[in-house]
Amino acid sequence: MGGALKVEVRSMGLQDVDILTCMIQKEGWEFDRSDIERILHIDPDNSIIASVDGKIIGGITVCSMGPWALLGHVLVDIQHRKMGVGRRLMDDVLRKLDSSGVRTVEVFGESRAASFYRRNGFRFIEECAIFEKDLGEGEFSVVNDSGIRRYEPKDMDDLLRIDRSIVRFDRSKIINAFISSFPRLAHVSSVDGELTGYVLARSSPMGNDVGPLISLDGSAEAALRLLQSALSVLPGGATYVIGPTENTILNDIMKETGFAQKQKLVRMIRSTGDITPYPPEMLAISATEYG
Ligand SMILES: CC(C)(COP(=O)(O)OP(=O)(O)OC[C@H]1O[C@@H](n2cnc3c(N)ncnc32)[C@H](O)[C@@H]1OP(=O)(O)O)[C@@H](O)C(=O)NCCC(=O)NCCS
Repeated sequence: MGGALKVEVRSMGLQDVDILTCMIQKEGWEFDRSDIERILHIDPDNSIIASVDGKIIGGITVCSMGPWALLGHVLVDIQHRKMGVGRRLMDDVLRKLDSSGVRTVEVFGESRAASFYRRNGFRFIEECAIFEKDLGEGEFSVVNDSGIRRYEPKDMDDLLRIDRSIVRFDRSKIINAFISSFPRLAHVSSVDGELTGYVLARSSPMGNDVGPLISLDGSAEAALRLLQSALSVLPGGATYVIGPTENTILNDIMKETGFAQKQKLVRMIRSTGDITPYPPEMLAISATEYG
């Protein structure tokens, strides 16, 4: 720890959410307090806060699910950067996750932070991007007879099976939390009664997000129909999709629906396993996964 700075690191709790949300929004990240509360609900134990004299100066949110954990909102306030606070936060999170059996830690960070992650034991897996569009009210509608319909609770098992076949980790906690927060924004695609894909979405005062979006079909048409179904139920306004820049189908459907690349991200992993870039069926991650 550099200088005389007395940094205290502790678990994040609901009492920290307001200040943390302010810091996050100041950074220009489109999250509101309900996003942080959802993370603390999924994993109440592993998110942490750094403070000096009781004032919050940084934090990291963590969603850990079995052997896999996702970090988000990795942030140190501007006056306290380059003093080792980020390193200290990361060390504490990783030590805790290591000791609880987590083998893969994943983060979607801003490209400028790639070297910070590298120094903390992460490796680059692939480039992603945030795509943005100012969505018009009623601009999209669900194409009739396209095999797309609203999600129903009976779809959960098949949806999780699809997710797991692509992501290779059990993300049921995140997906359950998302669907229970936004049940009317979830859609599935099916062929002959069998689920072939799904899309979730989120809407908050900070904007709309579409994702995760997974389509096993492999065609741009099927992916586009899923995307359009999500866009059809969102209110007008700033709308974001985050996905791998190498995915040609994602690039096609972004162009088709008028989304433009806003910012590049890096998908970084610290893992004892062999993690590879997402397959083409993975079109978009959820915005909760970024930061
Ligand atoms: C990324 C971020 C969390 C890093 O936090 P931090 O507290 O500045 O991190 P550290 O201090 O541990 O390390 C940052 C740099 O300071 C250097 N440093 C650490 N202690 C130091 C000290 N005592 N004196 C001088 N430099 C020091 C590190 O070597 C590192 O150098 P580098 O960036 O040139 O490689 C912070 O910069 C931040 O919040 N950025 C904006 C949000 C962001 O990009 N988040 C990440 C992903 S989305």
